[in-house]
Amino acid sequence: MLTVDILTVLPELLESPMSHSIMKRAQDKGLLQVRIHQLRKWAVNKYGMVDDYQYGGGAGMVMMCEPLANAIDELQSDGAFDEIIYMTPDGRRFDQRMANGLSLKGKILIICGHYKGIDDRIRQRYVTKEISIGDYVLSGGELAAAVVVDAIGRLIPGVLNDETSALTDSFQDNLLAPPVYTRPAEFRDMKVPDILLQGDPKKVEEWRYEQALQRTRERRPDLLQDEE
Ligand code: ADE
Repeated sequence: MLTVDILTVLPELLESPMSHSIMKRAQDKGLLQVRIHQLRKWAVNKYGMVDDYQYGGGAGMVMMCEPLANAIDELQSDGAFDEIIYMTPDGRRFDQRMANGLSLKGKILIICGHYKGIDDRIRQRYVTKEISIGDYVLSGGELAAAVVVDAIGRLIPGVLNDETSALTDSFQDNLLAPPVYTRPAEFRDMKVPDILLQGDPKKVEEWRYEQALQRTRERRPDLLQDEE
């Protein structure tokens, strides 16, 4: 069972992605618990203030220490987090290996930043992992957090069944996934490769591996490099 607490000023952005498809199934099965918290609950005044001007001047607000620290302290009063993650474009680039590692944890917190980001003292004192989902800037950490929780959630043992097994996903063995086909065997002038129709599981497996290798060589040779 993995519990993910998420701190955000925009819970609405996270509610839908966490309530459908495999994320829903993981929670229904009791294998994943996602709790979305409105940071303003820990605001410094009755107006819901959680951000302030930055020292030194410059455009853009900074998320204050106090609401974040109080929220974190309260959320771990029933047990410390294994990881406190801050979503930020200057974090480490998220990949399948990181997802695998996080799927084995018990209790994690994800902080979604907004505006210019969070006061650096929270990063120094509390945050254990800083994650970026790619080299581009989003308006906030919520969509990035949704990506991370989705990628992690489907890897928790028991969430996927054989049909949806993560073992055959792209990246799971540092290879892209092979092409797939379904009925009909012939569509317009395009045929499904014979080997898939012949029903020899060993040949199919070999073909898929070859195709995966070829795709990876063509599209992502860097993945093969990483193996060495
Ligand atoms: N917040 C804003 N941009 C982001 C990114 N690329 N990854 C993670 N969090 C972000």
